[in-house]
Amino acid sequence: MKSLAIVILTAAAAQAQTASTLKDAFRGVFRVGAAVNQAQFEERDPAGGRIIAAQFNTISPENVLKWQAIHPRPDVYNFEPADEYVAFGEKHQMFIIGHCLVWHSQTPRWVFEDADGKPLTRDVLLDRMHDHIKTVVGRYRGRIAGWDVVNEAVNEDGTMRQSPWYKIIGDDFLLKAFQFAHEADPQAELYYNDYNLENEAKRKGALALIRKLKSAGAPVTAIGLQDHDKLDTPPLRQEADTIEAFHALGVKVNITELDVDVLPRTARQNTADVSVTAAGGAGSNPYVEGLPDEMQQALAKRYADLFRVFLEHRDAITRVTFWGITDGDSWLNNFPTRGRTNYPLLFDRQGRAKPAFDAVIRTASQ
Ligand code: GLA
Repeated sequence: MKSLAIVILTAAAAQAQTASTLKDAFRGVFRVGAAVNQAQFEERDPAGGRIIAAQFNTISPENVLKWQAIHPRPDVYNFEPADEYVAFGEKHQMFIIGHCLVWHSQTPRWVFEDADGKPLTRDVLLDRMHDHIKTVVGRYRGRIAGWDVVNEAVNEDGTMRQSPWYKIIGDDFLLKAFQFAHEADPQAELYYNDYNLENEAKRKGALALIRKLKSAGAPVTAIGLQDHDKLDTPPLRQEADTIEAFHALGVKVNITELDVDVLPRTARQNTADVSVTAAGGAGSNPYVEGLPDEMQQALAKRYADLFRVFLEHRDAITRVTFWGITDGDSWLNNFPTRGRTNYPLLFDRQGRAKPAFDAVIRTASQ
């Protein structure tokens, strides 16, 4: 028995060692994915497209399925880009993610108002949410395999975010959103997605929320930890504790928007709140000419450490998705300070694999 186990382990290690792509290195462990932009899935960025096809087996849409993009006006749906996104995923046999149905951000103001600009009543907003979810999820039924149903409903202190959804509908807006999504595609996986869930107060609030949703019968498949990380935060112990705490509730845990910001902090808080902006003072953009080797190595180590935690929790994790392909694509060149040169991903601006890429691949065989 023992020698058989050793043979099997050695074979697995050999497969990982020879694997030169992310999807092969982690095959059978978890899917590896990336958020793709319109130029990539419309094949106007052939270099990016090649990396996606070679490296990943799941994709998320960076923007085209957000409410403001797909449903800009009450009677107008803009399906074309989302159709192309889904077709691209099918062409490459990807596990296709939908992101996101109910969020306070990148959602037009009209969603929450009547024709006179007055706030909607609970029932009318619920109807509007129902129509949107039914239309969008229904259109891609059987093709989009998993949906971020609700994005970012919890505050840093663990209380519920006072979004228009919450204020107008009440805290069962999440339960309703999950029910509507399930009704529109009973086979689809359904997720709650948020950032900073590693922080204790926010984690506690989100755990309570998921417990409550589950006991009300909401079909929650998994929690998405966005993991917009820094070199030094969240600490690995906190990352592990968070994965374990959600998994203990009987849901899977996905890493949904992974990147590692290497630039000096300009915002007061660590946040992935897209509405935050910060001015960049002297020294806030130090690597315009390139990332020094020492930072390159620090980034590689950070990624390896994170992937070791993910691997240790392979029973909980079904997917690890990066938020972008190359450093040049990343939102972190403009968040929270516009116009900086950041290096948060595994591929450089020319599409070449960075030391962090090799470090991640190596973790699979350790
Ligand atoms: C949040 C959202 C994503 C994206 C990122 C930044 O995490 O969930 O859709 O907007 O911010 O790009």
